[in-house]
Amino acid sequence: MKRSEINTLMRNGLSFLKQMHFLLPPFATWTPEEWKTKGPECFEIIDAQLGWDITDFGKGDYYRCGLFMFTIRNGTMKELEKKQGKVYAEKILIVEEAQVTPTHFHYQKMEDIINRGGGNLVIQLWNSDEEEGLSRDDVFIRLDGVKTRVPAGGIVTLKPGESICLPQKLYHKFWGEEGKETVLVGEVSRVNDDFVDNRFFDPMGRFPEIDEDEVPLHLLYTDYKTYYTYYDRSARS
Ligand SMILES: [Fe+2]
Repeated sequence: MKRSEINTLMRNGLSFLKQMHFLLPPFATWTPEEWKTKGPECFEIIDAQLGWDITDFGKGDYYRCGLFMFTIRNGTMKELEKKQGKVYAEKILIVEEAQVTPTHFHYQKMEDIINRGGGNLVIQLWNSDEEEGLSRDDVFIRLDGVKTRVPAGGIVTLKPGESICLPQKLYHKFWGEEGKETVLVGEVSRVNDDFVDNRFFDPMGRFPEIDEDEVPLHLLYTDYKTYYTYYDRSARS
């Protein structure tokens, strides 16, 4: 992705979030220059991979296949192993009409996906089999506390206010319903570690290649290593 495209998506995302009355924490709008002045007090932002995360999954066609995410809070795998500390995470996502997040599951992350407003969110589901393929078995999921059976590859549509609980190793693919508005999506989960925990059914890049045609407006969390002076001293390094 071009950095200019990411900057535009950040501007548009901030304006959509404001319109939906969902505001981001202060570090969301720090500039690269401000990041250079930050010290070890910010280690948690780096170690927990907090912040901007905009991807086209390496396909170069963001509105067809892409996702806007901002990680608001998160723990670390270390805390998860110790079973204490911050073992939960929260993200806010923006999903456009017919913009697909490709079929994937998470090895350890269990997540609730919540339609926070706007259009409808469509989610397609499969169990995974022992070889990490798509199983033909029916899928049992919980929709706001109600156990529901869906055939393999079946679809669930979440209207604003509705949510689904996705357990580990359950394949899911989602997009905004066509003909409806952009969807504001919440995610509440166990610890999230995008460097190790995702399994995409079709191999693809989780992070975009970036063509630096402009200065970043705000940093993606994958930019911290370039701009944050103390990166090498954080646990993440
Ligand atoms: Fe997921």
